[in-house]
Amino acid sequence: MALPPLLQGRLSLPVIGAPMFLVSGPELVIAQCTSGIVGSIPSLNARPPELLDVWLKRIAAACDAYAAVHPGARVAPYGVNLVVNRANPRLAQDLEVVVANRVPVVITSLSAPDEIVPRVHAYGGIVLHDVVSTRHARRALKAGVDGLILVCAGAGGHGGTLSPFALVSEVRAFYDGLLVLSGAMATGRGVLAAQAMGADLAYIGTRFIATAESGADDAYKSMIVGATAADIVYTPLFSGVHGNYLKPSIAAAGLDPDNLPVPEPGAAYRGRDDRPAAWKTIRGAGQGVGAIDAVEPVADVVARLRAEYDAARRELAATSPWE
Ligand SMILES: Cc1cc2nc3c(=O)[nH]c(=O)nc-3n(C[C@H](O)[C@H](O)[C@H](O)COP(=O)(O)O)c2cc1C
Repeated sequence: MALPPLLQGRLSLPVIGAPMFLVSGPELVIAQCTSGIVGSIPSLNARPPELLDVWLKRIAAACDAYAAVHPGARVAPYGVNLVVNRANPRLAQDLEVVVANRVPVVITSLSAPDEIVPRVHAYGGIVLHDVVSTRHARRALKAGVDGLILVCAGAGGHGGTLSPFALVSEVRAFYDGLLVLSGAMATGRGVLAAQAMGADLAYIGTRFIATAESGADDAYKSMIVGATAADIVYTPLFSGVHGNYLKPSIAAAGLDPDNLPVPEPGAAYRGRDDRPAAWKTIRGAGQGVGAIDAVEPVADVVARLRAEYDAARRELAATSPWE
């Protein structure tokens, strides 16, 4: 499908840098947008809440300044992730900051963004909603979203369980709008594969943890560089919802990642002295980690993804043994 006008001619690669709790900050987002991919932050990363307005103004000013100095460059719009849930006490306040700053791309997760869509559309922004199933996809479309992010198996954070082949084709059967695919892509070939499957854009998180501009500490970045898919475990133990985590961080916290206790339904380990906290102590990552072997500046990562994407396109076009 055609990209929404807001994204047309603004991307150097069909990629959104996914929002990551405790990892994404203004430096990462600015580096992503000025490299030509959408960069995004969870609003909850700005603490105290007043910092969100400061961050958004900083991001917008830096992107504008870059565009002014590089008139031919593709500078992507930025995004903010809002967690739509009664348990998020900051939602109303953060939404006002988002609207006041006319944030171009609003990424919503959990509940359908019924009240958010009209507010964002009123100033010309777009809303993309995270879903893990066709049921959630249909519900989000009812809310009037501009695109769906299909969070599939192997994605970092609270990844889904469905194969991207299955979910993309099921959603495509009833939706021909903007589809963004999330889960374990860390190469340009993976981005092209997402498009071959029927998605428009790839949603990439973990690859950007191991960058100079991410908010992750050095130990976390090293863990990402050293890990392969076998080092990722999918468990509800640490946040109450299934997520993908790095086994070495679980081992470092004194637990055996291959023999984790099965929690009572709904019981999270969060906030207990004797139990490590998700994201801070227990580090999140997707199954794509094996393709990441260095900590690099974002611009270099995006340039390589682009080169890999172009090479894969050429290679597929040149070799067609099935004709
Ligand atoms: C450490 C980490 C934190 C995340 N935090 C959030 C978050 O706060 N909000 C959100 O919508 N998604 C979050 N995600 C999910 C990402 O937005 C995205 O779906 C995922 O990273 C894509 O898969 P990949 O990591 O395999 O590239 C997080 C992912 C990671 C790895």
